[in-house]
Amino acid sequence: MVKATVVGASGYMGGELLRLLVRHPEIEEIVSVSRSYAGKPVSSLHKNLYKVLDLPFVDLDLDNIDSDIVFFAAPHADWFAQVPSLLNRGLKVITLGGKFRIQDPVLDHRVYGGYEDPSLLEERVYGLPELYREDIKKARFVTNPGCYPTSILLGALPLKGLVLEDKIDFEKIVATSISGTSGAGAKPSVSLHHPEMCDNIRPYNIFFHRHRPEIEFILKDTFKKEVNVFFTPSIANMPRGIISYVTLFSSEVDIDLTKYFTAFYKGEPFVRIICGDDENVPGILEVVGTNYCDIGVNLDESSGRILILSAVDNLIKGGSGQAVQNMNIMLGFNETTGLDLVCGHP
Ligand SMILES: NC(=O)c1ccc[n+]([C@@H]2O[C@H](COP(=O)([O-])OP(=O)(O)OC[C@H]3O[C@@H](n4cnc5c(N)ncnc54)[C@H](OP(=O)(O)O)[C@@H]3O)[C@@H](O)[C@H]2O)c1
Repeated sequence: MVKATVVGASGYMGGELLRLLVRHPEIEEIVSVSRSYAGKPVSSLHKNLYKVLDLPFVDLDLDNIDSDIVFFAAPHADWFAQVPSLLNRGLKVITLGGKFRIQDPVLDHRVYGGYEDPSLLEERVYGLPELYREDIKKARFVTNPGCYPTSILLGALPLKGLVLEDKIDFEKIVATSISGTSGAGAKPSVSLHHPEMCDNIRPYNIFFHRHRPEIEFILKDTFKKEVNVFFTPSIANMPRGIISYVTLFSSEVDIDLTKYFTAFYKGEPFVRIICGDDENVPGILEVVGTNYCDIGVNLDESSGRILILSAVDNLIKGGSGQAVQNMNIMLGFNETTGLDLVCGHP
């Protein structure tokens, strides 16, 4: 049994972490850190946790954390400087923000700025278990992937090792994603105000979103070749969920991609390959509230167009669920513990 601390517990990601951790059989104590709500019951903000998690938020000096594992579900800021001392004291750390996901000091600094520590950047393991499970097992410090990258990367990874890998144009990958509004966090803003969003789908950051370099960095690391991802995100009038449409072109395709994708993810507990024909495509409804990533792969033989559809819950497989999956791996628990989640239907 272990003790877990959640920094940023008042946010959407923090709230979902608390929800998962409170039912996790290996967690004996939770500390929920919030600067703004210290002293108030957790359920006064996360109302779904009323009579489930009877705990106040605390404003804790991070030097005084004595948990086995610390989740930073907060934007990277001054607190990042305290990560080395936590690691030196034997604690394990999972960060959910973007800092240090890109293991390139120049690119990381350009996208996220702020705290610099080459040793920390060197030590970090990117927390996508389907790709880096063996490294995560040994890691003290894991950077959890972004929500869009999780859906796009899990969709594209099976192309690795494909017989026709060399026939695919990785320099022109087109990725379009639609996300629920919780992707922007709990802080109110004019553009997310109800009258602006309730009947709307709004593209944003159409030429540069900060997740683009993260996606490209991991794909380059995987495919060992030049990769460009033309990524366009949109935010839609639903609270949670992401669906990504990833298009690639190949000069020659003569393989059953669904079969290939199914074999690639054989044994993966949280990736489900959906057939991909018109009747049977991944959708947000089936993954919301779960740690699943549903993937469909389609081929237009006449044009050589490969269309990969990939759906996740941005707050679960795209965030807190994947963080718990990483914790399970880091601490030697069964990887699926606490994540046996199925959504309702419809
Ligand atoms: N939302 C998503 O779908 C999603 C998906 C993947 C990753 N992420 C990442 O996960 C992190 C949290 O996202 P979120 O959506 O939960 O954001 P959020 O709802 O805005 O919550 C973030 C929380 O962090 C705390 N915080 C803010 N600045 C801080 C600081 N300087 N030091 C310590 N705590 C601070 C705040 O709590 P107090 O003011 O109460 O302390 C706030 O409630 C972000 O880095 C985000 O990029 C989000």
